[in-house]
Amino acid sequence: MPNLSIVILAAGLGTRMKSKKAKVLHEAGGLTLIEHVVNTALELAPPERVLVVLGRQAAEVEAAVASRGVGFVVQREQAGSGHALLVSSERVAPLGGDVAVLYGDCPLLSAATLRKLIDLRTSTQAAASVITTILADPAGYGRILRDPDGSVRAIVEQKAATPEQLAIREINSGIYCFSGELVWRYLNEVQPNQASGEIYLTDVVELFRNGGHAVYPLLLDDATEVLGINTRADLAQVDAAFRMRKARQLMLDGVTIEKPESVAIDMSVRIGRDSVIEPFVRILGRTVIGEDCRIGACSIVRDSELADRVEVRPFTMIDSCRIEPEARVGPYSRLRMNAHVKAGALVGNFVELKNTELGEGAKSQHLAYLGDATIGGGANIGAGTITCNYDGQRKHRTKIGDGAFVGSNATLVAPVEIGAGSYIAAGSVVTDSVPPDALALGRARQVVKEGWAKKRRQK
Ligand code: UD1
Ligand code: CA
Repeated sequence: MPNLSIVILAAGLGTRMKSKKAKVLHEAGGLTLIEHVVNTALELAPPERVLVVLGRQAAEVEAAVASRGVGFVVQREQAGSGHALLVSSERVAPLGGDVAVLYGDCPLLSAATLRKLIDLRTSTQAAASVITTILADPAGYGRILRDPDGSVRAIVEQKAATPEQLAIREINSGIYCFSGELVWRYLNEVQPNQASGEIYLTDVVELFRNGGHAVYPLLLDDATEVLGINTRADLAQVDAAFRMRKARQLMLDGVTIEKPESVAIDMSVRIGRDSVIEPFVRILGRTVIGEDCRIGACSIVRDSELADRVEVRPFTMIDSCRIEPEARVGPYSRLRMNAHVKAGALVGNFVELKNTELGEGAKSQHLAYLGDATIGGGANIGAGTITCNYDGQRKHRTKIGDGAFVGSNATLVAPVEIGAGSYIAAGSVVTDSVPPDALALGRARQVVKEGWAKKRRQK
């Protein structure tokens, strides 16, 4: 929007979170609160017109959003929301135009609603517009006092409110759009609150009115967008709202989600049409899932790429991996650190793949650890196979050629190479490389003592 600056207040202590970490660095929907708010601001203003007011853990909060190119200013002492905006004036006032104020702890606000707020300020030429909503339980919020013409007369904070004012259920979201010219003029006149000594931004409303300038409310029917976070209980509620918003969007885009209230899908995730997400799944980070996939119940997929028609059976963990079309993994598999499962390969229960490539159509169906290995197409890895990749100091690779058959309970001591088409006898400990098409046996020959058990019983 032309001539709009956005100031994000994020200096507050967040005492009620009872945390070592600044409030805006807590996560909801897979992003920190401050990232959400900055992303929304950037939909409406260029980075050079977005300013974040920092206080507690300023360096850490700045680091969380520095890559977005927005500006920062530090509020040395947390002397109130009005003081926080004043601190930004040196940077923002010279830019001219409107000033929208967002709170770093109010991350569900959409750009569409913010745009409506700005349009309301512009179309009415009021001093300010403010987002309000009606809450069943308004405790803790500032209450909106209206004039008969519907404009806002004043905002009273919970602590200062009379019993009649406490009964008002229309609350201040803390999100405003100001005429820049008027806010910088009147904000300087706000006196510190008698009780707390803080400068309240909410007090500027009454000063506008006394100066003959109106403030108009944008009343939202749905309070979700302005849910502010003060406690961890609020954080859980906002996280659930983000999850539901994401799940809803995916469903509208053609993804089936069974029990959407039970899944957690980060905002950054992409999923193709006709894929099915079973209950209690978590899909996180930069994960991209193709079309016609199925993600089994209780699985966790993070920062991974799944092509079309991949099936993940229940209780599987996949972290930073790539899975090609029609591969099937799980139930109870663990894939991590750049594991790469090629097309049509099968990974079964209690199989772990770490930094391993499993070739096209290869199978490892039960109970195996395959770490730092390159496994050829069509190879068959028997139950209980272990690649011994670590000698106590360094990691070594195991190579298994196309079509090799590794018998059950084989121990492959890396570095070692198993030739294409070869057989490894069950129970072998393989320390030397095996040429293609050979049979390798690495185990003690069996001894049978006839009648031994019977004689023992007769003793
Ligand atoms: C504030 C409003 C209240 C509104 C509520 C909505 C005031 C006086 N009250 O109350 O009317 O209903 O938000 O959630 O504004 N901040 C700073 N520096 C400071 C103080 C606060 O940057 O010195 C930031 C905080 O980081 C936070 C925001 O301002 O993002 C609001 O501060 P908070 O202390 O949470 O205000 P509330 O008491 O919730
Ligand atoms: Ca608050």
